[in-house]
Amino acid sequence: MRVTITEIKQMKHRKEKIPMLTAYDYVTARMVDEAGVPLILVGDSLGMVMLGYESTIPVTMDDMIHHTKAVVRGAKKALIIGDMPFMSYHISLSDALSNAARFIQEGGAQAVKMEGGEVVAEQVRRLVSCGIPVMGHIGLTPQSIHQLGGFKAQGKAMKEAKKLLDDARILEEAGAFAIVLECTPAPLSELITQKLTIPTIGIGAGPGCDGQVQVISDILGLYTDFVPKHARQYARLAGEIRNAVADYMSEVKSLAFPTDEQSYTMDESIIKQLQAENVDDVVASEAKQSKCR
Ligand code: KIV
Repeated sequence: MRVTITEIKQMKHRKEKIPMLTAYDYVTARMVDEAGVPLILVGDSLGMVMLGYESTIPVTMDDMIHHTKAVVRGAKKALIIGDMPFMSYHISLSDALSNAARFIQEGGAQAVKMEGGEVVAEQVRRLVSCGIPVMGHIGLTPQSIHQLGGFKAQGKAMKEAKKLLDDARILEEAGAFAIVLECTPAPLSELITQKLTIPTIGIGAGPGCDGQVQVISDILGLYTDFVPKHARQYARLAGEIRNAVADYMSEVKSLAFPTDEQSYTMDESIIKQLQAENVDDVVASEAKQSKCR
């Protein structure tokens, strides 16, 4: 049985921290799921860490559905959340609903995430009323990077901090089952967490949140173009991969790879016949004989 939003909400009430990770492909999703992570986000961060874009803005619905399907095939236990990409939920309520429905029906996800507070409250209400669980996302919202003027902490000043607190309350009231707080000061995140009955999931938001989310490529040390302040590397896979590729190249060049162990054998006599000048005649006569039998 998959994890449900009810179980996630109960974790807050039991004061049990909620780990969440992103995944974008079958193999990784399978490993994350086997490790027991209850929430997997198919984040639009895939635009940067999988597709090499400079931001999440170019990511399309088709990109997201393609990766969501792969993650769903790999992860059988975790609750999978599809991240609604830039402008897939702002233009109209009906757009928001039909794009969210694609994540659930085509992608196989169990929930969607959208960025923004009050500005998306109506969309959250509509989706939830149609049976689609929604995770909110406030603070640093990467789809608004041009408006925010860069990847930086949000809510340090009184006015912005109050706005984030209000947004969190509005999202809860609209029916969101959890809210991501991204790059918000730790004391503010803690206050928001105390004021809400639904879980907060922090990324660069301090230890006071109900859960934590990280981009898988950051914690594995796979994406090294930019390592955010809030990430900790639990492995350095980029270096491991570079070394493995260099070893492979040098063994191919030195003939150390492949050996008999990685090769297939066949009857020596067939090779001898193939080497013979009259190979076509031999094959034709064998075919004739087998037809007559
Ligand atoms: O796209 C993403 O990976 C996210 C997380 C950083 C929360 O939105």
